[in-house]
Amino acid sequence: MKSGKQKLKKGIFISLEGIEGTGKSTQARMLSEYLRKKGYETALTEEPGGTPISREIRKVLLSTKHDKMDYMAELLLYNAARIQHIREKIAPALAKGKIVITDRFSDSTVAYQGYGRGISLKLIDSLDRIATGGMRPDLTILLDLDVKTGLMRNKHINKVDRLELEDVRFHKKVRRGFIRLTAKEPERIKIVKASKGIDKIHTEIVRIVERVLKA
Ligand code: TMP
Repeated sequence: MKSGKQKLKKGIFISLEGIEGTGKSTQARMLSEYLRKKGYETALTEEPGGTPISREIRKVLLSTKHDKMDYMAELLLYNAARIQHIREKIAPALAKGKIVITDRFSDSTVAYQGYGRGISLKLIDSLDRIATGGMRPDLTILLDLDVKTGLMRNKHINKVDRLELEDVRFHKKVRRGFIRLTAKEPERIKIVKASKGIDKIHTEIVRIVERVLKA
């Protein structure tokens, strides 16, 4: 059922986070469709990506040919893609009062490059401040799933990229990183179990998002 246009005074910024194979992209799409049907304007996007320049950087980051990439180069490239993404897409959409839904944002850098690669969290935070100017999602949904199940799901759909090729230990560290982040910011980051069916996960996400919209 379509209701009239809902105009927000100020945009809302929502990110979906999690390890590989949690179904973030599907849930981001379903959430965007749900909100559009309710009359909200949404901008659905992803990191690294969302703009032509950031998509080019994504290709460099995820190509399995680039197995010599230095961890620091990797960190800087994720941040470079983010700067462009914010400037060109996220900030303008928020300024127009849209609900921006991004598949990954800064928390992925803390989890993958910080907890996964072992780069100093302090350094990551300093770079993040430069890249985002302190911009934080209003709400982050963390889809949490057992690492083996996640990697297996992606294998089934033949999704392979440079970071997915890392071993199970790496992905376990990343998962722990996300959980630690949630403990640090329980108000912003809400955990949803990704082992349930797609529709159940969607319903839970909608319930959380509705609470934020009411607030
Ligand atoms: P995905 O969006 O298809 O999951 O692919 C993005 C990959 O990049 C995924 O393995 C997570 C990784 N990543 C980082 O390592 N750091 C980041 O800051 C972001 C946004 C993604």
